[in-house]
Amino acid sequence: MKLDYLRVSITDRCNLNCIYCRPRENVKLLQREELLRFEEIIKFVKLMLPRGLEKVRITGGEPLVRKDVIKLIGMIASIKQIKSITLTTNGVMLERFALDLKKAGLHRVNVSLDTLSREKFKMITGYDGLLRVLRGIKVARKVGLEPLKINTVVLRGINDTETLDFVNFAKDNSLVVRFIEYMPINGRGMNRWYVSNQVIKKIIEKKWGMLQPDFFPGNGPAEYFKLKNSDTVLGFISPISKPFCQNCSKLRLSADGKLKPCLASNYEIDIKNVLRKDNTENEFNKVIKLVLDFKEKRRKISPDFNTSGRFMFQIGG
Ligand code: 5AD
Repeated sequence: MKLDYLRVSITDRCNLNCIYCRPRENVKLLQREELLRFEEIIKFVKLMLPRGLEKVRITGGEPLVRKDVIKLIGMIASIKQIKSITLTTNGVMLERFALDLKKAGLHRVNVSLDTLSREKFKMITGYDGLLRVLRGIKVARKVGLEPLKINTVVLRGINDTETLDFVNFAKDNSLVVRFIEYMPINGRGMNRWYVSNQVIKKIIEKKWGMLQPDFFPGNGPAEYFKLKNSDTVLGFISPISKPFCQNCSKLRLSADGKLKPCLASNYEIDIKNVLRKDNTENEFNKVIKLVLDFKEKRRKISPDFNTSGRFMFQIGG
């Protein structure tokens, strides 16, 4: 089994507080010394190269709030075998960071944006930041962090009325918008928020006609379509209505050094202590064997989204 794609969460901190991602109760945040150091992340990436690793995505929390994130991007970008280095951000700090990210060697960014309404943005995230995010998107594109994809988690009763607005947004700005099905992490919010992408697709097709299947480059599980007679690309990520475990070649490394073979499971293996030893190879190989065994088994059972108490901001999406 190939393991060509690694998502590295570099912090659990975030400058937004989205209702579905970070619970309002007091959650314990990681202390600095609990975080994997950049050198340890690089060590891990290098150990993964013989296993076929080619693509690295940096996530959070919000990755741009971690000090010296630009330095880390540069360190990863200088590893020859890594063909793609990307970052998922909420866009709030993108205006300030885009050029430096590009210069450091970052290829692309995905921006999480769930609403185009300033009021709703404030309601979902707790911060009046829509205009800043939109400026960030503009600057990121201008410096060449393209193609830029927008990730929109559809939430029933909150932004599911904005589907056609997002299609227009994609069309007017030549951006790829991807509709993501809400995942009930630790059983949370399924009845309250989940909307199937089949419903979203129908809403779009009623207005725009049948969507045309399209190939669009990416690492992940999105299905892409074009609007009829148009270059506008839309993506659908449907972990609930169309699980994609069969094709998954992803690993996740959490900010506190746990290796997660699967987003939708509570299985994780500590790798920090392995990385902090001098002679790592042997133990590393043992861990990878566990990961591969787990992923093989995982393909046969459907995801339960039980993540040992971790919320999404602690996993990185
Ligand atoms: N279901 C689906 N997507 C989620 N994200 C955060 N929580 C969830 C969830 N429960 C998304 C964020 C971001 C990406 C990293 O994960 O909105 O786009």
